Amino acid sequence: GAPVKADIGKLEAGQMVVVEWRGKPVYVVRRTEEQLAGLKKLDQYLKDPDSTGSLQPTYVDTLSRAIRPEFLVLVGLCTHLGCAPKHRPEVGVPDLGGSAWLGGFFCPCHGSRFDLAGRVYQGSPASTNLEVPPYSFEGDSVLVVG
Ligand code: FES
Repeated sequence: GAPVKADIGKLEAGQMVVVEWRGKPVYVVRRTEEQLAGLKKLDQYLKDPDSTGSLQPTYVDTLSRAIRPEFLVLVGLCTHLGCAPKHRPEVGVPDLGGSAWLGGFFCPCHGSRFDLAGRVYQGSPASTNLEVPPYSFEGDSVLVVG
């Protein structure tokens, strides 16, 4: 399949857009400084905090799982059985982990929880992090997926 381009120049901090690539939804989230800082605090709650057992390109940063830390790019399919996780950016949601929930993605099918880098929380049926697809940027505002 051909790469897909998306203009993300107008995406505001905290927002998500969905881009379709090879028939799959790709989530693009522009993370805030606060959200990026929160990623450092979660290792103890996660199954694969360094993503060593999960799919991502070698050129992304280990912690942010991104090329440019503010832009998270993920395949929006749960690594359990393929449902579409919901973007849940609110902090401290009781049902999602309380104080250990700093925003992320919740899969409604069987309750897998992922942080704002797509890393899976312990206690989820999914065992690997959401996949980071191959991608690059053209200039400041064009994302190329594929
Ligand atoms: Fe997401 Fe099962 S498909 S938890």
